[in-house]
Amino acid sequence: MPTKLVDVEVATTSRRNVPTVVLAATGPALGPGGDDLDASEITGKAGETVRHRDTEVWTLGVGTGSLGDYRTAGAALARALSGDDAPRTADVLLTPDFDAEKVRAFVLGAALGGYRFKVTAEDGPKRVGSLRLVAGDPGFEEVLTSAALKAHALATATSLARDLANAPSNVKDPRWLATTAAKLADKVPGLTAVVRDEKWLQQQGFGGVLAVGGGSARPPRFIELTYDGGGAEHLVFIGKGITFDTGGISVKPADGMHLMRTDMAGGGAVISALMAVARRQLPIKVTGLVPCAENHISGSAYRPGDVVRHYGGATTEVQNTDAEGRMVLADAMAYAVRTLSPDLVVDVATLTGAMKVSLGLRTGAVFTTSDELAASVVEAGSRVGEKWWRMPLLEEHVEAVASEIADYKQCPPGPGGIAAALFLQKFAGDVPWVHLDIAGPARSEKVYDEVVAGATGFSARTLIELAESFSRK
Ligand code: BES
Ligand code: MN
Ligand code: ZN
Repeated sequence: MPTKLVDVEVATTSRRNVPTVVLAATGPALGPGGDDLDASEITGKAGETVRHRDTEVWTLGVGTGSLGDYRTAGAALARALSGDDAPRTADVLLTPDFDAEKVRAFVLGAALGGYRFKVTAEDGPKRVGSLRLVAGDPGFEEVLTSAALKAHALATATSLARDLANAPSNVKDPRWLATTAAKLADKVPGLTAVVRDEKWLQQQGFGGVLAVGGGSARPPRFIELTYDGGGAEHLVFIGKGITFDTGGISVKPADGMHLMRTDMAGGGAVISALMAVARRQLPIKVTGLVPCAENHISGSAYRPGDVVRHYGGATTEVQNTDAEGRMVLADAMAYAVRTLSPDLVVDVATLTGAMKVSLGLRTGAVFTTSDELAASVVEAGSRVGEKWWRMPLLEEHVEAVASEIADYKQCPPGPGGIAAALFLQKFAGDVPWVHLDIAGPARSEKVYDEVVAGATGFSARTLIELAESFSRK
């Protein structure tokens, strides 16, 4: 940790004795450097890589040149230039259509496509270390360089979010997650980290975090990351930090339980986003909160039927100890609303298996009452290659959140993802709020585009882009 990503620079001259990559659009239509190439073996399909016989020349398919195609192409190139004969570096000859957005997509793909997580004593496989993007027109060098830098920052954040989520839970307990975040944050000027322990949580009344964390021998923590770059708005990002989810007394089936080491993916995305926002010195104030707990089974575990008192006093009737995410998020949201005077609260969580059924594994769910905020998230995501779909906070299910014996019912009946969102909404007060359920896209079984199997780092980039869009307001 952390994985070394492929470096990318932009220049107007190509280098001698360095492998060259010629871009090929569907057709194929070859870009600069392609005049003398034999095009019979290539189609130009996005991500197609061909090494031309006995040469140091490659062609890379970029499809129809959409942003997604460039992301796919960048990732395919990073994967193709790996293995025993991987070159140290290569020149990519850009076509004249390249603008800032396309460079961003390509660099994002190239930096992340070669990502790998493996705990081993062996050396990692050889991989290309850097790429030079060669632009034809010197007038664009500056714009494209800044686009490449931004893309690299987004990729770095995604990579850290992946590393944190991929870390196995024998290593990653709440204390590890909190101290790792604090250590990383300490290296970034302008970013402050405070880690609270179980005694502080007790004094402050974080009953949800304490209930969920109570079954584990490894006590809960609460991370608060603060960055103040000036500006009028204060955003609070809250990430679910369950370092392992057994389900608790309402235990999960054995099949697939191991995947629950990534149940802090939302928290990892928040930590990574705060680091990137501070590194880029965006003119905005952002606080990141990550309630960390291990949802475990033992004699001290919380039970179905318990009534838990959250930060600020509201109570929840527990129905299923496996619905632990909302228990810890409720505390953090109440804390944000009561103590931080936020202009916007965004929570991110691998919250409900139901969302995997609704939207599949490549699209995140957005819940908010505000059309404008929903659009901001969807647009921010589309600029950085993350897909979001708005879900409704259905009025007819709101009543079901009421309990006979407490203020709220933890698992109101109805569609799972929506019911969870309606529960959380009770803790947002009057503050504009967005809930992001990333249970689907936080993990992948497959390699596709810039994603490799395992934790995807999904939502870190959207959070950064959202902060940037608010800083321009
Ligand atoms: N962490 C899980 C949700 C999850 C499931 C994320 C699969 C990623 C993949 C969450 O804590 C959970 O267990 N939710 C329950 C809620 C239910 C008990 C109301 C679920 O979705 O089954
Ligand atoms: Mn659970
Ligand atoms: Zn969970």
